[in-house]
Amino acid sequence: MLPNPYAPGELPRVLAGREQQQDRIRGYLSRIGTYGEMGGPLLVFLGPRGVGKTSLLREAQRDAEEHGFITAWVACRRNAPFLPDLVSRVGKAVESADILPRAEKGTWKLRLENIGLEFGLPSVVKVSAMAAADRSEAEAPPRGAQISAMEDLLHETSSQIRARGGAGLVVFVDELHAATRDDLAVLLNAMQNLAGRREDNPLAIIGAGLPSTPGVLVNAATFGERSTFLTLPRLEPAAAAAAVAEPAAELGVTWTPASLQTVAAEAQGFPYLLQVLAHATWEVAKPSGTGDVLDVDQVRSGLPLADDQLSSMYAARWAAATELEKQIMSVMAQAGTPTVTRAEIAAALGRPTQALGVPRERLIDKGIIEPASRGEVRFTMPGFDRYIRETLATGAPSPADPAPGSLGAGRRPRELPPASEGGPDAPRR
Ligand SMILES: Nc1ncnc2c1ncn2[C@@H]1O[C@H](COP(=O)(O)OP(=O)(O)OP(=O)(O)O)[C@@H](O)[C@H]1O
Ligand SMILES: [Mg+2]
Repeated sequence: MLPNPYAPGELPRVLAGREQQQDRIRGYLSRIGTYGEMGGPLLVFLGPRGVGKTSLLREAQRDAEEHGFITAWVACRRNAPFLPDLVSRVGKAVESADILPRAEKGTWKLRLENIGLEFGLPSVVKVSAMAAADRSEAEAPPRGAQISAMEDLLHETSSQIRARGGAGLVVFVDELHAATRDDLAVLLNAMQNLAGRREDNPLAIIGAGLPSTPGVLVNAATFGERSTFLTLPRLEPAAAAAAVAEPAAELGVTWTPASLQTVAAEAQGFPYLLQVLAHATWEVAKPSGTGDVLDVDQVRSGLPLADDQLSSMYAARWAAATELEKQIMSVMAQAGTPTVTRAEIAAALGRPTQALGVPRERLIDKGIIEPASRGEVRFTMPGFDRYIRETLATGAPSPADPAPGSLGAGRRPRELPPASEGGPDAPRR
């Protein structure tokens, strides 16, 4: 039996259709590689949950390392400072690259420890308490000592790397929308200062987050708006087909054109859905060797399994919502149009538009809905609206209803998975 090559919620075996974004990152890094200069302001990829932000960044990290960069990776979490992590990851990256002559290692370690102290390292517990205290003073200015410590860290590591023959330093920051304001302010200020001496700082910081990220950055430092924001779109049909066909082809298994089309049509270019559907088809068809072909019937047979997996994700999202959030989602799901205006939601609920600002923002924050054009919102993932309509119609997720051939059409009652950030909407940290 062949292993299932699809990866719902994990890094894809084949990253399809992201050539444009990958070129953009390469261009950004090539300035560092060629001139030893800072890449530019923060580069941030935006998109809803499951569109492929982490996958793109991981691929970029691999690519950067292949081109001689030393990289560090951090993922932000709500209400937790991420700078202590950033400091220790950068330190570890330099250490494991083993670029320093033995005689300098001791001094370097000491230097790093001093910087770490500024961020509460090694006692991370202490820094959480500090950060919590700081947050209560809403207008507290960014701490100067931390800014200069961050500058030191980024300047010294990147220039050391360069001096020892490396290309430079790249720091990846995932889940940027969840970063605490204080930490972001420190990072943005440090970058701004380093940009003043760009030729001395061969480094880049590349981030990813939900569409609410720009607001979070501007809120931390006004010049956060000068970051470069790139929205990660859904996959084009050809890329969607490649995302499904290529991992199979590597094992000698072929999808018929019609079966690829069926999967692509169901997933609507959404990478997470493509993986779920392809994974389910494979599970049901169990191709056993080179020359096997996956056809439309097998895709259809896989749909209940795919649907099951999606239902548990939707159920988790639904269960995690507050009453008011559920009301907003219900109005949106029942509107029967792809997008809904704020005014429509307010009218349906009989409330002033402003009263819905907070729950609406929270839904956007969680990546469940996203702003469309002016004043309009829509669901980020195809199928969730159908799930909600069904949940509302039956009072609970409906029992297995045989309507096959369409996602979101039949699901059975199940234990609701815990409503945590680590649910199936949050593939990796
Ligand atoms: N370009 C791609 N080609 C094929 N599969 C992809 C691609 N991008 C992402 N995927 C798949 O889609 C799913 C979601 O990807 P990923 O976790 O990178 O999304 P994300 O935007 O980081 O989501 P979140 O906001 O929840 O962290 C994964 O199963 C991954 O394997
Ligand atoms: Mg991610």
